[in-house]
Parts: sequence; C-alpha cells; structure tokens
Amino acid sequence: MNVQDFKSKKKKNQKISMITCYDYSFARIIDETDVDCVLVGDSGSMIMHGAPSTVYATVEMMAALTKAVSSGIKNKFILGDMPFLSYRSGLDSAMRAVDLLMKSGANAIKLEGVNGNESLIEHIVNSGVPVMGHIGLTPQSVNAFGGYRVQGKNSKKADKMIKDAKKLESLGCFGMVLECIPSPLAKKITESVSIPTIGIGAGPDTDGQVLVLQDMLGMADGMKPKFVRHYLKGFELIQSAVNDFHTDVVNAKYPLKDESYN
Ligand code: KIV
Repeated sequence: MNVQDFKSKKKKNQKISMITCYDYSFARIIDETDVDCVLVGDSGSMIMHGAPSTVYATVEMMAALTKAVSSGIKNKFILGDMPFLSYRSGLDSAMRAVDLLMKSGANAIKLEGVNGNESLIEHIVNSGVPVMGHIGLTPQSVNAFGGYRVQGKNSKKADKMIKDAKKLESLGCFGMVLECIPSPLAKKITESVSIPTIGIGAGPDTDGQVLVLQDMLGMADGMKPKFVRHYLKGFELIQSAVNDFHTDVVNAKYPLKDESYN
C-alpha cells in the first residue's frame, strides 16, 4: 500500500486496516500479515515506556520507535506520529522532527488537531511528506479535555469537527484519524470528505479502523475502553508461558538434554 492507495481504497469502498507497532519483533510479525498499514503511534510512550499519557513522548523516542519498526517492516506503509508540542514550537523545530521521523523510516507523518497547524500542514505536504490528520479525542490534549472523553457530542462541537475535517482535506492531508466520537458524526465526516477516515472508537462507518496492537492482543491490564476488541488473551497467555518456564526451571525440567550442548 502506498499513499495513493488510501484515496483509491475509499473510492472503491474498500476498508483500510491500521495497527500500531513500536518494536522490531512485532514489526516482523505484522509485516507478514494482511493488515494494510502500521502506525508508530505516540501511544508507544505509554505502551512501551509506561508513561501516564502521550504528553511524555519526545521526538527522540518516536524516532527510535519508528527506526525499530521500519527495520522489521519491509512491505507496509508506515506512519510516524509527531509527539506533543513538537509541531507547536516553530517551523524549524517542527521540520526537524518531520525530517527525523522520515529518516527513521516513516512514509508519512500524523499530527493532532487543526487550529494553529494549518500553515505547518501545508508546508509539510508541500515538502513532499504525506500528512495524516487526527481529530476528535486527540490524546495529546487530554489535560485540556479534562480526561479521555468522547468528543463532538453537541451540535456546535460536531459542526466544528466537520469543518475541521474539511479543512484537513483542503490543506492536503491524505487521510485523518477520527478518535472517540459518536458514530453518526463519524459517518457524516466520512461522507463529507474524499480522503479516508480511520476510526478508533468512532463506530463502523469510517473508511478504516485502527487499534493499538497491545490493546487488541489483550496484553494491557487495567481498563478496557468500550471500542477495544480483544483478539487474544495476551496478558494471561504470556503470563502462563512465563510461569511454565519458571516451573520448569525450579523443577529442573529445563533445559533437557536435547536442549543442551554436549
Ligand atoms: O498513538 C496512537 O496510538 C494513535 C492512535 C490511537 C490513532 O494516535
């Protein structure tokens, strides 16, 4: 899949699947799956580094995660995520961050929000770097939202979001993530733009869906958002494998003769 395929998939009514990834070993597995594209999301700061929110992601962290993923992905489109404030402190530092993500192996970048980002988005697009927008519950603004809440619930906010989506298209974005918004609003936005919408917690009518890999593998403990579907009981399965190893070691059942050098 390349950047042109996003629009043509929408035209042909073909859904787009996107999954997050943050490391080489999962990248090797994902590269051999049917999933369409990979997002090295700033959620990596939470999933891989245990940060309390994506506010803690840095450009260096995102570059390192993107490099690890791109080392393992040979055949898929990779999106690098611009971290908190990296695109709000002037054009030069924003473009340095874009440059670093692209040189770490991203094929495109994603950034959150519209207001105040208009000229930057245009500049990045005109520099030959595809940009994916991200509206709705933009997690980097969690402190401004007062928590992880569904966005666009009243008609004024919904209308603003539709305008923002159209703006992202007019600025040259090749797609946009819609996060945690009511399904009817996601449907309306999807019908209002000719670039694909990739939903997360945005219902069934977006042009594609994205999930955090560790969420859908059931590897995260704690709270499970309503929109997350567990395709594996990863937490229990991995825990049980590690416990099996421990039991074998303490009972002198591992290693066996054929697992040892003579
Ligand atoms: O960082 C991330 O994982 C994301 C997705 C939730 C879209 O931005």
